[in-house]
Amino acid sequence: MEFLSLNAAQFPDFAVGRLNIDIDAALQSAPPLEHQDVSPGGVWSPKSCVARQWIAIIIPFRDRQKHLDILVYNLVPYGNKTFNKGRLMNIGFTEAQKHDEFDCFIFHDVDLIPEDDRNMYTCSDNPRHMSPALDKFNYTMLYKGLVGGVLSFRGKHFTKVNGYSNLFWGWGAEDDDMHKRLFAAKLSVERPSITIGRYKMIKHDRKDVSPVRLDLLKTSIARYLKDGLNTLEYKLVETRLEKLYTRIIANVGDPPKNQTEHPL
Ligand code: BGC
Repeated sequence: MEFLSLNAAQFPDFAVGRLNIDIDAALQSAPPLEHQDVSPGGVWSPKSCVARQWIAIIIPFRDRQKHLDILVYNLVPYGNKTFNKGRLMNIGFTEAQKHDEFDCFIFHDVDLIPEDDRNMYTCSDNPRHMSPALDKFNYTMLYKGLVGGVLSFRGKHFTKVNGYSNLFWGWGAEDDDMHKRLFAAKLSVERPSITIGRYKMIKHDRKDVSPVRLDLLKTSIARYLKDGLNTLEYKLVETRLEKLYTRIIANVGDPPKNQTEHPL
């Protein structure tokens, strides 16, 4: 797999560059939950130009409403079960398409706030790992194959990798599995430079580390076409148009009793 970088000429004239993000201040105050230009469900388009792409930002989360409020507030002006983030991202992709014809899908951790508006919330010709530099890791890339955090995809590419795995219950490695899918599907991944692809992470306790994540990673390539969008099962509970975003509540089912006995 190749990693490509974005050309500076693609930034819009109005990009100011490095933004001043104060996570501690954001955590202490309540972010405004309205924005005058945003229609219910979080629909927004620029007034001063014609949007080149129609983008769905998919944010899988549970029990982190405050993080969601902070992230959404920062994105708008910018342009007891175990968690199963892969399933939630696949559901977001599937449900978003029932609402509109999106060109581009951005899978976004709820706790990452972008720090540079030259980091374009658009899709390129290849999937793009938009968050190579996190404050938590002193703005260095943890490892070369990292694609977790914020990842943008054309719909056809997300379909080509069969979305995320549905088998990762608990924290960790569903993104590493995605990296292997991208490799297996021969897709290159782009990245902004680490001066532009910078994010602040909202601090939280990590719970529920998946005990079988490393075992699952051994089967990623053999499994990817049999586990993903084409085997996704869920129950849609509710779709609610909030002021700044569309909330999709879904039942993703339960983890197997013995996680080492996954079906593939
Ligand atoms: C996990 C990934 C995570 C990365 C950075 C890895 O060990 O498997 O899921 O994104 O660490 O925290």
